[in-house]
Amino acid sequence: MAFPQPFMDELIARSDIVDIVGSYVPLNIKSGSYWGCCPFHNEKTPSFHVLQDKQIYYCFGCKKGGGVINFVMEIEGLTFPEAVQFLAKRAGMEVPTDNTDQDVARKRRRMLELNRDAAKFYYQTLLQPEGQGVRDYLERRQISKATAVKFGMGASPDSWDALMMAMIQKGYTKAELLSAGLVVQGKNGKLYDKFRNRLMLPVIDVQGNVVAFGSRVLDKSEPKYMNSPETPVYSKRRTLYGLNLAKKSKRPNIILCEGNLDIVTLHQAGFDNAVASMGTALTPEQIRLLSRFTKELILCYDNDNAGKIATEKALQLLNNTEFTVRVLQLPKRRTEDGEYVKQDADDFIKLQGADAFERLLTDSENGIEFRMAQIAGKYDLRDDQSRIAYCEEISNLLAALTSAVEREVYTNRAAEAAKITPDAMRLEVERATRRKSAQERKAQLRKDLNPAAQLQPQERSLRYENVASALAEEGVIRLMLLDDSLFPEVYPLQPEEFSAPLLGRAFFLLWEKRCAGQPVTLASLAAELSPEEMSHLTGICQKPESMDNRHKALADYIRIIKKEHQKRNASDAQEDPLLAATQKYRNKSGIGGKQHG
Ligand code: CTP
Ligand code: MN
Repeated sequence: MAFPQPFMDELIARSDIVDIVGSYVPLNIKSGSYWGCCPFHNEKTPSFHVLQDKQIYYCFGCKKGGGVINFVMEIEGLTFPEAVQFLAKRAGMEVPTDNTDQDVARKRRRMLELNRDAAKFYYQTLLQPEGQGVRDYLERRQISKATAVKFGMGASPDSWDALMMAMIQKGYTKAELLSAGLVVQGKNGKLYDKFRNRLMLPVIDVQGNVVAFGSRVLDKSEPKYMNSPETPVYSKRRTLYGLNLAKKSKRPNIILCEGNLDIVTLHQAGFDNAVASMGTALTPEQIRLLSRFTKELILCYDNDNAGKIATEKALQLLNNTEFTVRVLQLPKRRTEDGEYVKQDADDFIKLQGADAFERLLTDSENGIEFRMAQIAGKYDLRDDQSRIAYCEEISNLLAALTSAVEREVYTNRAAEAAKITPDAMRLEVERATRRKSAQERKAQLRKDLNPAAQLQPQERSLRYENVASALAEEGVIRLMLLDDSLFPEVYPLQPEEFSAPLLGRAFFLLWEKRCAGQPVTLASLAAELSPEEMSHLTGICQKPESMDNRHKALADYIRIIKKEHQKRNASDAQEDPLLAATQKYRNKSGIGGKQHG
């Protein structure tokens, strides 16, 4: 354990969870506890619960939970020691120094310095004779010098170790270069520069740190793009290329594209509110990041099949959030042979100009219009059979709209498109609504009838092997946390008798705390358990438990755990004849006496 326990106890005591959570999320008090809309997933009705007496939070929607440190880790995207620092600063406490966690923070700082130095090195290279190839490439792509500087672009030399040598000279170690992903190790064990003879695109976070690099080849060879791996300072899911600049834009919204160079071209053309998810699907973490800067997004993905799927996925993710979303559809380009091919924002601006893009921006459709157009595109609305099929499919879409006004407006529009009366369309939508709720009821029923699946932890790695025992183990831990006067009654139980490793470990840790005279709270386990494990334990504490029968319930739980443990032992013995023989011998001779004892 890195931080001294008395310090941690005081820190947690001085960081009231309602204060801290309340500074991010508006909380309402309802029958003695606090509720709000979960900051970790998108919702309009509150399922985020904060319990002041136990100093924990839990979301019944996304099942995230824990103590105050977990909350800060999650919402600020910090590591455990960073969250401790954060809270200590807030509480005006001095963090005891000299421990391994501060070492981690120091390593992160070093890595950021290394990245910055590498970016400077690539930038210098761009200005030198070796940078000629990249300078020519920038010119071919019509990227101005000012734009290149604004994005901190650079050139990696055509060499196996130029960067490595330069950074070693600056005092960085090979190990540091490896863990930053700037050099890689070949099969023969030799280290070499990862990025060679490429246009370098530093990825800069909203605090202005160089967290990673993207890079592009200068010709048609593969791979076209090469990016830094995940590192202690870079998580792809939490980063958006260009957001460091877009966050300062005066435009009221943010444009989301796929590619790095789309962003560069857009900014150069005056659309300084564009960001890219660097070729991956939009993530909830990125949405949360965006929500700090805007409430209006414009999706501008490629107009090919993959882009349409990405748009649909993003719309689903953004559904029911506070964001207003529009879809900017780039037209396909007609080639000289009369073929229609996809173009991205970069191609479009270069061929049609910034004004044409501004018009597309103004005309961009909202999400529902985009989806309606997608469906209409599948049917020939002059043909009666197709019109019927269109009405059926579109009514499913309209039935999913939660706003009655929206449903009315678009039902009329769909009726117009299908050339039927609005009343007929409305009937169709009502039928779809009934179908939908019947389906939802059925799905819920299936879930209710399969309690075993429902009881399993969300996190796959925590899945229970023995559900009967695990539920009893959950009960024991819940009771220990709810009423610590029950501790003596738990005494006969051993951590090894638990079937779920996490629950056994939690049991052990709680005992340890109790024996050391420390507070036995869930929040105090944050240092020893992962955020997923904490979420799971917090969820367990939220399950109902009747305190009137606590003594009997606890005895029952212990009995079940012991019985299941014995069953497991017996079947283990059956599988292993030697073990079975030894056990028989022990039973006879009275060794390991419990059975006789
Ligand atoms: N990408 C990647 N690795 C690849 C290909 C693509 O990481 N091998 C990411 C890059 O961030 C790229 C984005 O996906 O910018 C979109 O890829 P693509 O559409 O193929 O490239 P463009 O951005 O159009 O690149 P360019 O205009 O430079 O050819
Ligand atoms: Mn492109």
